[in-house]
Amino acid sequence: MNYFSYHDGILSAEGVSLAALAREVGTPFYCYSSATLARHYKVFAEALPPDSLVAFSVKANGNLGVLKTLAKLGAGADVVSGGELKKARAAGIAADRIVFSGVGKTKAEMRLALSEGIYQFNVESEPELEALNQVALEMGKRAPVTLRINPDVDARTHAKITTGTAETKFGIPFDHAREIYKKAAMLKGIEIVGVDVHIGSQITDLEPFADAFAVVAALVKELRADGHSISRLDLGGGLGVPYEQNNVPPPDPAAYGQVVARATQGLGCRLIFEPGRLIAANAGVLVSEVIYVKQGDAKTFAIIDAGMNDLIRPALYDSHHEIVPVREPKVGAARIQYDVVGPVCETSDLFAANRALPELKAGDLVAILSAGAYGAVMASAYNARPPAPEVLVAGDDWGIVRARQTHDDLIAQDSIPGWLRDGS
Ligand code: LLP
Repeated sequence: MNYFSYHDGILSAEGVSLAALAREVGTPFYCYSSATLARHYKVFAEALPPDSLVAFSVKANGNLGVLKTLAKLGAGADVVSGGELKKARAAGIAADRIVFSGVGKTKAEMRLALSEGIYQFNVESEPELEALNQVALEMGKRAPVTLRINPDVDARTHAKITTGTAETKFGIPFDHAREIYKKAAMLKGIEIVGVDVHIGSQITDLEPFADAFAVVAALVKELRADGHSISRLDLGGGLGVPYEQNNVPPPDPAAYGQVVARATQGLGCRLIFEPGRLIAANAGVLVSEVIYVKQGDAKTFAIIDAGMNDLIRPALYDSHHEIVPVREPKVGAARIQYDVVGPVCETSDLFAANRALPELKAGDLVAILSAGAYGAVMASAYNARPPAPEVLVAGDDWGIVRARQTHDDLIAQDSIPGWLRDGS
């Protein structure tokens, strides 16, 4: 459920017309809906035990406006870098609601997180554990730690975003878990607090979750029997979202909540969740203008002013995003098959192939839907294209939450070394 719909024939974000926004900020631009973010956060949080920590996965959308919206609702943050940690703190998320994930935390990042006093480190390997112990001892602190377990469960999602099988770089193999917990318990700079698991993203089937949760729930019991104090269970992120209107929608948070409840019953652990996509994906659209409609021999191309540098998901994962005209099409309007492409000089700069859309003309606006997660955060300036700016809407109000960079901004990022300067 989201708050993008046609009002008076124009696609709007809550009470704000996307056509009016396009006139104000230019195209392409991302637009996020606060009410949709809030609704997704609440529906998810309400499906879980009341004392759970819902730590929004900042990698999905790190815009400060988005983070602040979620912070005000009580969200914590799941971060994977010092940069994300600083952004979460800048958005007002309390350190004791922040968890730090990722396979490659550096010592500098560990130092930062320890000095902030974050809630926990989700540690993914023995060398990382040793490094964290060393940093914590140097600082006279103890680092609260869960070990991320790789349960060897296939999440049945896209290969590039599956993380819970033995072939991936993530987590500690289940068979080594008890032995590494034993070692961790001997490290004076480490305080074992729990167990963590995350098996992938855009998971549209509850069974892999149930399988992975069963593995870690059993491990919690074993670890307690081994004498460890396990009070937290971090169940990762990963509930998928509907990207295609005609597909069966993924299970809803309530059904996911039941799987969680069944798996964790009687454990007495505080549960932690790291949702990203579920909260942000359908809370954002990318609005773009058609530059040309080009008739090829085999195809009709709608060339739009957003490119793969703005939204890389279709190029990287062949992912489907619905595309709709901003001006509401007439009921029964004829449809034409388009390849919707960007201006970037790559064949992979393709948002949709053979997509049946109402007739498009140069100057028309289109909205690429479900672009609020892993959209702007993965943007680049490829082809020297300043990435699309971001706008946040709340009711009838809106604000630019990241401005469009100018060409001069891009040029100013580089410098010419002394020996190449004119006159030297
Ligand atoms: N926790 C951990 C440890 C993760 O690695 C991830 C995502 C999440 C939480 C959040 O997962 P979510 O709730 O958003 O599914 N760029 C890709 C997605 C990469 C996901 C990486 N990890 C895409 O655009 O589909």
